[in-house]
Amino acid sequence: CGIVGYIGSKPVVPILLDGLAKLEYRGYDSAGIAVLTEQGIAVEKSVGKLAILAEKLAHNAPQGTLGIGHTRWATHGRPSDINSHPHTDCAEKFAVVHNGIIENFQKLKEWLAANGHTFRSETDTEVLPHLVEHFYQGDLLAAVREVVKHIEGSYALGIICQDEPDKIVAVRKDSPLVVGLGQGENFIASDIPAILSHTRDTYILNDGEMVLLTANEVKVFDQQGQEINKEVFRVHWDVEAAEKGGYPHFMLKEIHEQPKALRDTLSGRLATDNSRVLLEELQMTPEEVKQIKKIFITACGTAYHAGIVGKYVIEDLARIPVEVDIASEFRYRNPIIDQDTLVVVISQSGETADTLAALREAKNRGARVLAVTNVVGSSVAREANWVIYTWAGPEIAVASTKAYTTQLVVMYLLGLYLAQQRGTLTQEQIREVVTALRELPAQVEAILGREEEIKGFVQKYAHCEDVFFLGRSIDYAVAMEGSLKLKEISYIHAEAYAAGELKHGTLALIVEGILVLALATQMDVFDKMVSNIKEVKARDASVVGITFEGEEELAKSVDEVIYIPRTHKLTSAVLTVVPLQLIAYYVAVARGCDVDKPRNLAKSVTVE
Ligand code: G6P
Repeated sequence: CGIVGYIGSKPVVPILLDGLAKLEYRGYDSAGIAVLTEQGIAVEKSVGKLAILAEKLAHNAPQGTLGIGHTRWATHGRPSDINSHPHTDCAEKFAVVHNGIIENFQKLKEWLAANGHTFRSETDTEVLPHLVEHFYQGDLLAAVREVVKHIEGSYALGIICQDEPDKIVAVRKDSPLVVGLGQGENFIASDIPAILSHTRDTYILNDGEMVLLTANEVKVFDQQGQEINKEVFRVHWDVEAAEKGGYPHFMLKEIHEQPKALRDTLSGRLATDNSRVLLEELQMTPEEVKQIKKIFITACGTAYHAGIVGKYVIEDLARIPVEVDIASEFRYRNPIIDQDTLVVVISQSGETADTLAALREAKNRGARVLAVTNVVGSSVAREANWVIYTWAGPEIAVASTKAYTTQLVVMYLLGLYLAQQRGTLTQEQIREVVTALRELPAQVEAILGREEEIKGFVQKYAHCEDVFFLGRSIDYAVAMEGSLKLKEISYIHAEAYAAGELKHGTLALIVEGILVLALATQMDVFDKMVSNIKEVKARDASVVGITFEGEEELAKSVDEVIYIPRTHKLTSAVLTVVPLQLIAYYVAVARGCDVDKPRNLAKSVTVE
């Protein structure tokens, strides 16, 4: 999750520890460093807080002026000393730190093992030092160039070699990496805060770019291996702004991280020809899948809202009845479950007290449990029978954004997985959803491109004291999440309603000055949704509509329209929520609220 590297003339250990400490705010589960000493590469790593690593190093720090360090947020393999980075080859001649996911690591591992390499960890990263060793013929840069031809997935890498004690090689693809330029010393880092106390002059690397650092020189090469002239980016941010990647709040940074988070969560889980989902980690036997008569989804807060989308998705795709319940209700309400029930718990942190208790209750009653979580080795991950991880990376803002959209992606993957095993969809239907999933990251990027437009008109509505979110079908599920986002960070009273339910009570509340956010992406009920919009317009509410590009009709009935790229009716949830996140964010900013830490709320609620 965090990378730092140094080459120069100063003792490297304090510089690495300081750099890693500057990345602590991002969250991590273990840390480690590799230092080039006169005796070779010395590695020290430790699960838990950085202080534990620092303590280990306090008495016996390896001496050297070149090294790499890492804080890990587990993806493949639980948090442990052995799984922590840096990783080395058999002879400990090379050390590697890595952020990202090597998708084809399993195949590479088998191939390397057949060629005599032995592995110590459960990580995807460990194949990298072995690959470098395999291709090394006296030139580290050339070996790394060969390695990147063989790996798929996302990576930011820092690599050192015992036989070339004056070099660090670094490369990136789909994972951030910067170079810090000093006087007689140079740095690499995954994030600017790690190097800000040493230098403000940086190279921000692009995908495919590779760097060769010595103490006095930095050479940058493009994907073809041609040396390029990189422009120096001078950082003017203070430490606080740097932690947020230049964004004013973590929430906005995390909203913008969604394309990457979605890509990571999909990575390796879709067949390359879009014919099916793979989801190899879910090793359910066909008998176990057949045995599922009912699914219960249980969770809290935003994760519960992802579960509601999950109900629409799984029922539609796999034709299994799904009940969704708030974890604090489920655990006390004598739910009807048995060994033919699959209970799905969703939790970003994997530690929410009610969700964990619901999981235990389900197991006590004989159900099998599948956990969907963002934290490897968390309590729900440990206690469940199966786990599917969301790969959103650490989420810091209390209001959840990228965790939610990646949870939705897992709902689609799960729905398709069950559908494939149960034969409820045609090949063509599966392909349609898989293709839609693959397009989502770029489509979210396109919506984020309209941020200024959304920010512009939101100002007009920031004074509203009551906001209603309306939708039908899956749009209704997303309306709930939109309403939660707005109320938790802007303190505006907000409610979500199934649009068809309006006339059974809520319509009495619709008067001038009320803002209505109307989601209209479900084409089978589009006309009915437009009628509902007309009903609130006729009572002088202001209406912001969200629909697909090309649905020009809606503009006639509303005050503003936000267009989103067209997608499958089920996958629309990932797109419609993005403008709602941005609206909540800009309203909260306009009202001067503490966006990242709203009053009375906590990121992780580990007490009842
Ligand atoms: C808290 C957070 C919410 C989150 C909920 C569930 O209330 O403020 O953002 O959705 O907990 O958290 P979990 O970690 O279980 O997803």
